[in-house]
Amino acid sequence: MGREPGAQNQAGRRGRSGAQEQHASIATRAIELVKDGDVVGMGTGRAATAFIHALGSAVKGGLRVRGVPTSQVTAGLATQLGIPLATLDEVGQIDVTFDGADEVDPRLDLIKGYGGAMVREKIVAASSRRFVILVGVEKLVPVLGSRRILPVEVVPFGLPLCRRRLTEVGCQAAVRLVNGRAYVTDNGNQILDCAISPIQDPTAFEQAIVSIPGVVGTGLFIGMADTVLVQDREAVMVRHRADT
Ligand code: A5P
Repeated sequence: MGREPGAQNQAGRRGRSGAQEQHASIATRAIELVKDGDVVGMGTGRAATAFIHALGSAVKGGLRVRGVPTSQVTAGLATQLGIPLATLDEVGQIDVTFDGADEVDPRLDLIKGYGGAMVREKIVAASSRRFVILVGVEKLVPVLGSRRILPVEVVPFGLPLCRRRLTEVGCQAAVRLVNGRAYVTDNGNQILDCAISPIQDPTAFEQAIVSIPGVVGTGLFIGMADTVLVQDREAVMVRHRADT
């Protein structure tokens, strides 16, 4: 279920995929956390896509929710499935957001963004009372940075400066390419995939990176996830931040 950083979730465009089938149990479990009338944040990626399919089925069955999407791909999929959309401006606060992740450490801190949607994902997560992560067991790591990549979104104008300053803080930054062209986020920016070592102090590392002019955001989500649902073959494990 792991993947290399790349284009945003394509599963949403193509319908149900193998990866989505693999996330079906955690998606079903996640739906139990949604109450009638909730405003639901909807992540981006394969796990989020499985959740959105499950939410669509629940809406067809009579559940009333409004969904706040974290990407254009997610918005398109939710619309196809009949999930009413709302903007952050309309709802103010979100009850619960469901999303995937690329790494989850024992404190439930995360690296996200291999799908390139992490800036909107972080805004939606920060607007939520509860943030729930859905992952396969292979995403659990002892230390953030174990998969050696941290995505960083940057304003194109600032690219040269960002690359230079990122090198100074220990990140070898490469512009993300998709089909040979620079990947452009939903915000009109580019992604630098930073080759990193395991991160000793994620909060300090995040501060050092976001203080570079031109950096819009990183894939580090520190202290944000409340609950992580982990799919391990047929079993679903549930972890809460309060238990860490
Ligand atoms: C999107 O930018 C990402 O943050 C995804 O949430 C993350 O990459 C997990 O995606 P998968 O569920 O597809 O592995």
